[in-house]
Amino acid sequence: MALESFLKLEDLDLLGQRVFLRLDLNVPMKDGKILDRTRIDAALPTLRYLCDKGARVVVASHLGRPKTEEDKQKYSLEPVAQALIDSGFEVLLMDSPESDAPVELIKGIGGNKIIMLENLRFAPGETKNSDELAAKWSKYTDIYVNDAFGACHRAHASIDAIAKLKSIRCMGFLIAKELEALDTIRKNPPQPFVLLTGGSKVSDKIVVLENFADKVASVLIGGAMAYTFLKTQGISVGASKLEADKMAVAKSFLKRMEGAKRKVLLPIDHIIVKNFEDTQFETTPGPDIPDGWIAVDIGPKTRALFANEIALAGSVFWNGPMGVYERKPFDEGSIAMARAMAESDAFTVVGGGDSAAAAMDSGLADQMSHISTGGGASLEYIQGQTLPGIEALKVRIPQ
Ligand code: 3PG
Repeated sequence: MALESFLKLEDLDLLGQRVFLRLDLNVPMKDGKILDRTRIDAALPTLRYLCDKGARVVVASHLGRPKTEEDKQKYSLEPVAQALIDSGFEVLLMDSPESDAPVELIKGIGGNKIIMLENLRFAPGETKNSDELAAKWSKYTDIYVNDAFGACHRAHASIDAIAKLKSIRCMGFLIAKELEALDTIRKNPPQPFVLLTGGSKVSDKIVVLENFADKVASVLIGGAMAYTFLKTQGISVGASKLEADKMAVAKSFLKRMEGAKRKVLLPIDHIIVKNFEDTQFETTPGPDIPDGWIAVDIGPKTRALFANEIALAGSVFWNGPMGVYERKPFDEGSIAMARAMAESDAFTVVGGGDSAAAAMDSGLADQMSHISTGGGASLEYIQGQTLPGIEALKVRIPQ
């Protein structure tokens, strides 16, 4: 028999060791400028710890989804390397993730001087989980540390293949923190547990809804996915976004929850516009949306209804915005939810992506129990799937 377990970063003797550190530094960027450095800041504790303990660190990350040669300039990690320099590191940025230069350069680094590989996705073998590419990195490093939670759902060479080549492999502080918070929600959420969900598609969230159906006290549904649910109740949704082919799924979920006597709250009013591009809006008095109008956010009554439920919760997990979050003022429903979570005494976890951005924009991020840095990764993990990046870190302990 063998038990599976994880090595801890604190258990490793790092002095002089060469560490391949996989981070998720895939930050939003425009014209070469970083728009949000949350992921960089979240990666710093592990990077600093490794440097302080005398390791010689090679940092590796992907950025965006480069496809062509021309994409290489747009998706260079240069601005990210500069952000690390601004955080106190001396960074030697390689011109390619496949560069052989680290073989020699690594002998001369240490302290706050680190090597950074260029965007891993510039190497065709990265997304193909190439053993050959992983072997190249493995040749000049002794230990593998993964702290790229946001990329753990990808079986890529820097996440999966390289981990398998290293007998000493472990997670960084960020992944440990993410798993602790998400496991609390996944396995044993303090009751009453409230699931707040939004975003555009029922199809994206139905697995999460079904997965938590027996654990939630109440489900609060906002965002465009709510209109599909409302339609099944005979409520008119005007010209709002609708997934006609998901109405049966939505209806059967509502029926299941009704049978289990668990609450599902849908919007009771809306912010509506005549044309999608309009910023001029009206507020409906009730749940019905007039013909020709498009709902773009939850209304004030819904915000209060949802906030009340959050105030009484023991734990809350939020994934997906309540409206067309990226266009002010239609972010107000999402910001109101962030505020309600920040003000509640519940254990509050925000899934990544747009809901994390809303939590940051509310200015109350530090009052949440945890904001995940993973988008797809946190959603897959929370819905009970195993993540290749976490699986690859497991070590077998002979009994
Ligand atoms: C993310 O932003 O969710 C991660 O960095 C993974 O990026 P990907 O979806 O391009 O693999």
